[in-house]
Amino acid sequence: MDQIVIQGGRPLRGEVRTSGAKNAALPILASTILGAGECVLSNMPRVVDVLTMGKLLGMLGVAVTHEGDHTIVQAQTVASTEAPYDLVRTMRASVLVLGPLVARLGEAKVSLPGGCAIGSRPVNFHLAGLEKMGATVEIEHGYIRATARRLKGCRIYFDTPSVTGTENLMMAAVLADGTTVLENAAKEPEITDLATFLVKRGARILGAGTDMVTIEGVTALHGADHEVIPDRIEAGTYLIAGAITGGQVVVERCRTEHMEPLLVKLRESGVELTEEKERVCLKVTGRLKGTNVRTCPHPGFPTDMQAQFVALMAVSEGTSVVTETIFESRFMHVEELRRMGADIRVEGNRVVITGKEQLTGAPVMASDLRASAGLIVAGLAAEGTTEVSRVYHLDRGYELLEEKLRALGASVERRKGT
Ligand code: EPU
Repeated sequence: MDQIVIQGGRPLRGEVRTSGAKNAALPILASTILGAGECVLSNMPRVVDVLTMGKLLGMLGVAVTHEGDHTIVQAQTVASTEAPYDLVRTMRASVLVLGPLVARLGEAKVSLPGGCAIGSRPVNFHLAGLEKMGATVEIEHGYIRATARRLKGCRIYFDTPSVTGTENLMMAAVLADGTTVLENAAKEPEITDLATFLVKRGARILGAGTDMVTIEGVTALHGADHEVIPDRIEAGTYLIAGAITGGQVVVERCRTEHMEPLLVKLRESGVELTEEKERVCLKVTGRLKGTNVRTCPHPGFPTDMQAQFVALMAVSEGTSVVTETIFESRFMHVEELRRMGADIRVEGNRVVITGKEQLTGAPVMASDLRASAGLIVAGLAAEGTTEVSRVYHLDRGYELLEEKLRALGASVERRKGT
């Protein structure tokens, strides 16, 4: 297995360009199933999860081709309605094909996603929502089987906002008979991007990006062109990489309005930030201060930035408390950061961090995508060599990570494994 080897301690300097958002690209790709017209997608990040979704579409008989920077998808006919276990087990977001398949073809057989390193991640909201829309849903031999002649619009209330749950049911509702109202829906910018794309294709959706989304069903969708929004989590990861190394970094081509909760917390800890059109300039002078953070659904502080922020707090002055409210066991990076000399105590769903002047490089193991990003930024700041193993997690969601970090002056190499 590949490793990323970092010689830490170099302040990062320079400019880095944000790639397209993985978590917008995935539902947008899945939604192409909903209609026959050609869709031309740009700013698609070249990361493993997006390739996996392309592969899944291919298995369903949808044509996916790449021309220059564009991904062209044509779902003229959808030949299969099955998302197999071997693929779903590598990427939970495969469940996003469930809503579109039932809506367009009246049936879907999608492997039920299994366990996950960040806690139990049920899909009960997705299933209950489809049932409420009139589908028959059964779990058989590890697969979700859903069938419906035509889905019917209805009111669906989420006990807690779910990102992919909102996306799946919004996609299903686009072709349903009548009006669907999603209440207590998730409000992430990636949901708004999906809705923007669907509306370009002829869908009728109001309120995406708020907690009440209203979808009036139509009978068919046509093709459209769409540019995926920039990845706010990738952009935030580079800001933290700049901050933790005491550097001076400009993150280009990002949407600062999507990053407000992180920018507020960075400023609170003493980072100097200048927001310009589609870019953020970061400068650090002196040691940063510890600050408290609580992850929440958007527009709260994103759980996908928690591991990177914990790494930053590990070298900031004083005590910080980081509380995780979205996933039940998303602190796997903590033991690894301790191996680098961090002083962090886990207390239930929160960590108490006492900032150290300096971390020391160590061999560490990545457990999921964002935990890996947390270890990488810690390694950039640590004295000596950090070897991060299981980097396939990083490849799922960060495009050209080593190249981008090297362009900022970091010493980062990939050591090929056997
Ligand atoms: N939940 C349920 N039942 C459901 C669905 C969700 O109880 O049917 C709970 C979850 O267990 C969790 C909470 O609701 O406690 C929120 O989970 P959500 O459904 O919003 O998470 P998700 O849709 O599975 C997406 C992102 C994650 C990101 C979370 C939270 C995609 C493809 N994935 O997951 O991204 O952490 O929202 O913002 O959009 C990542 O990119 O590294 C990643 C994990």
